[in-house]
Amino acid sequence: MKKKLVCYMVMAALAFSLLVGCSSQVVEEKPQEAVTLSSYSGTKVGVCIYQISDNFMTLFNNELVNYLVSKGFSKNNIIVYGSANSESIQLSQVEKLIDEGVDALIINPVNSSVARAITDKAVSNGIPLVYINREPSGEEELRWENYGFDVTYVGCDARQSGIYQGELVLDLGLDELDKNGDGVIQYFMIEGAPENVDAGYRTMYSVSTIKNAGVEMECLLDEVGNWDRVTSKLLVREGLSQGLIPELVICNNDAMALGAVDAIKSGKLVPGKDIYVVGVDALPETIAAIEDGDIAGTVFNDYILQSHRAADAVMNYLQGNGNEHYVGCDYKKVSAKNVQVIMKMILNSGSGDGGQDN
Ligand code: GAL
Repeated sequence: MKKKLVCYMVMAALAFSLLVGCSSQVVEEKPQEAVTLSSYSGTKVGVCIYQISDNFMTLFNNELVNYLVSKGFSKNNIIVYGSANSESIQLSQVEKLIDEGVDALIINPVNSSVARAITDKAVSNGIPLVYINREPSGEEELRWENYGFDVTYVGCDARQSGIYQGELVLDLGLDELDKNGDGVIQYFMIEGAPENVDAGYRTMYSVSTIKNAGVEMECLLDEVGNWDRVTSKLLVREGLSQGLIPELVICNNDAMALGAVDAIKSGKLVPGKDIYVVGVDALPETIAAIEDGDIAGTVFNDYILQSHRAADAVMNYLQGNGNEHYVGCDYKKVSAKNVQVIMKMILNSGSGDGGQDN
């Protein structure tokens, strides 16, 4: 049925081009678009997000759905589940999606160890699978390669975000940072989640980048904030109330950086003056906080490019074209210097409102 429709559309487009006498370039482009749009309207995509309350993953997921819709997928056929940060919930959601007859899966795994079981379920049912945001282990990726599975990972290298955070701190200058003038930067580290690749690399590389530039660092507090604003606020407030005085708070993401700012303000200190704060993601609220001077810098975690590449990977599999088993993206540094440029770039590259069913 679907094939017939595609055929009719190609024929109609060819007839149209002959009638109006288009140049060969237009003749090639027009029918291709018509084929793509019509061919995905009946295609079902199943999506699992490790935890839907995660601010960054919400942005990511909205963009993913909008982009798929812009490519001709029907919103009703994109089924999104939040996995409540639970392996067993995620696994049963994957089974449910397979039972519901999805043609492709896009999975933000709860952790890297759940990936093997998800891959097995998808592969044994002949369903192409794209992992996003949380990279499965090297061993798991090797399996996709060795067995030629239609499975890939789309994401950024978190080491780069850590390095960029370190560079943003260095750009502030030691004189500015070292409020107590002891030649050492006292800092708090607020980490994402235990055993999470992004959290581990960001923690390690932000600090090593600063230290490698010859700046001495002293860690006053290192806690896990679970990527969450309120948790981070409580942790930073607790540290401050114990009399610890950091000059810098490094957070593995923006939600936690915003929480740190909340705590600093509630402690009657001035963020961006008494204590500097850096994050990762470039959430809209952080962009505003950079403009206000509350946050010194963040690293744009390009959810637009990542979600588009994940959707493109799905389309490649559906068309039988295949994908590399790792699809990377670059981070970008954001500070007061370029915040306007980044904001415009984000606004221009998003897919807009894909909320309309088609
Ligand atoms: C990171 C992101 C965090 C959080 C995390 C979830 O890449 O910076 O904000 O969403 O992914 O795994």
